[in-house]
Amino acid sequence: MVSDELFLAKKDLTQKGFLDIDLDPTLDLFQEIERLKKEKNAVVLAHYYQEPDIQDVADYIGDSLGLAQQAEKTTADMIVFAGVHFMAETAKILNPSKKVVIPDLKAGCSLSDSCPPPLFKKFKEQHPDHVVVSYINCSAGIKALSDVIVTSSNAKIIVESFPKEQPIIFAPDKNLGAYINKVTGRNMLLWNGACMVHEIFSLEKITKLKIRHPNAKLIAHPECEDPILRIADFIGSTTGLLKYSQTDSSSEYIVATETGILHQMMKANPYKTFIPAPPNNSCACNDCPHMKRNTLEKIYLCMEYELPDIIMDEELRVAAKKPIDRMLDISKKAGL
Ligand code: 13P
Ligand code: SF4
Repeated sequence: MVSDELFLAKKDLTQKGFLDIDLDPTLDLFQEIERLKKEKNAVVLAHYYQEPDIQDVADYIGDSLGLAQQAEKTTADMIVFAGVHFMAETAKILNPSKKVVIPDLKAGCSLSDSCPPPLFKKFKEQHPDHVVVSYINCSAGIKALSDVIVTSSNAKIIVESFPKEQPIIFAPDKNLGAYINKVTGRNMLLWNGACMVHEIFSLEKITKLKIRHPNAKLIAHPECEDPILRIADFIGSTTGLLKYSQTDSSSEYIVATETGILHQMMKANPYKTFIPAPPNNSCACNDCPHMKRNTLEKIYLCMEYELPDIIMDEELRVAAKKPIDRMLDISKKAGL
């Protein structure tokens, strides 16, 4: 427990993302988080890329679509978002009367950062006949400039909901955009953004790994580059990959996405083998440095202090909500 004085002294720093209070090392964080959930009527929503301990304390673990759906419908007073900033921001956009806290305000996203709203606005103005379809991994500023939002689990059906002749700008992920162009036969204009985690998988190392594990299937997230997707046995969102690992009959998989997902895959399939796909650097696996900023300690602290929380300009929130609502509506009708 932390005193009120310390709380007040740290509040400003906390809002800037500098929460650095020393915790009693004997504190049982799992128990404390459960206590705070009850005391504060809080719900912990976690993305699959969070570290295993965080996934284990979460009330819901999911992909970006599932997390947005949960955030919209929760009756909890406080949403503790164990993910990155654009995800927590989306929760606040959808459910503004709730307090949305995030363990580390600096947990950003390279993909979201690759698309600054002022630049994108100019790009959009150069193509006035295009509709704008944006991947949820973007800021509220980009969402507000978009006609509809997509995630990796609904991008195909949402793009296909537009007539074939409708010109489309797809932002910010050029890899997901190229993949959707391929599977829908569209020719969307792509913003030149990419995810730092998914664009560094090594085709050469994966090919060698496949030779060493001839029965292993390669399963990949559509944020990966085309050469990886071309040799993949299955492509899907994190939830899609997890479900595939449960329904497919193989016993070995090479997984081309962030390593956090392996925790649920191993839990759901204790007799199967999951090998993280190797990146193009000296590391054996591929972690997202933004997702991995969150720790159990920071979850506990943000619940205790109710800080840092997401605060938004109301006009921006309302503008950003419209294309997300459209996405949720199409997804619901499609049974997603
Ligand atoms: P999904 O979990 O929606 O597939 O998204 C992956 C991702 O990169 C989130 O940052
Ligand atoms: Fe962003 Fe990529 Fe990290 Fe997802 S994995 S949060 S897209 S940098």
